[in-house]
Amino acid sequence: MKMNGYLHVNKTNAIALTTTDNIKVGKMAVFTVAEQEILVANVKGHFYALDNICPHEDASLYKGALHGDCVECPLHGSRFNVKTGEPQEEPATEILKTYPLHIENNTLYIQIDEC
Ligand code: FES
Repeated sequence: MKMNGYLHVNKTNAIALTTTDNIKVGKMAVFTVAEQEILVANVKGHFYALDNICPHEDASLYKGALHGDCVECPLHGSRFNVKTGEPQEEPATEILKTYPLHIENNTLYIQIDEC
């Protein structure tokens, strides 16, 4: 699922992205929030958010594959842990930024400092 924008912003400036049932277990979605592409992955029912753009050569990780708790870059195969943003192998070496998520009434909220 590729989505531009988001649903709404709550009282604590958390941004509602989508409902949890829109991202099935083992799947990913990408959202554009505050001009940033954010990847959200569902790993065994737990949701994680991190930057979508690979720091090696700017590939969209959304176009890659989710293997357990790692997303594999479609361009050169680096894998990033979706919980920590850490690359597991080269060629990518930079850590991806991760973002806190929480769920309220089946809606997934993200907290982004810049908003
Ligand atoms: S662009 Fe992601 S590993 Fe090269």
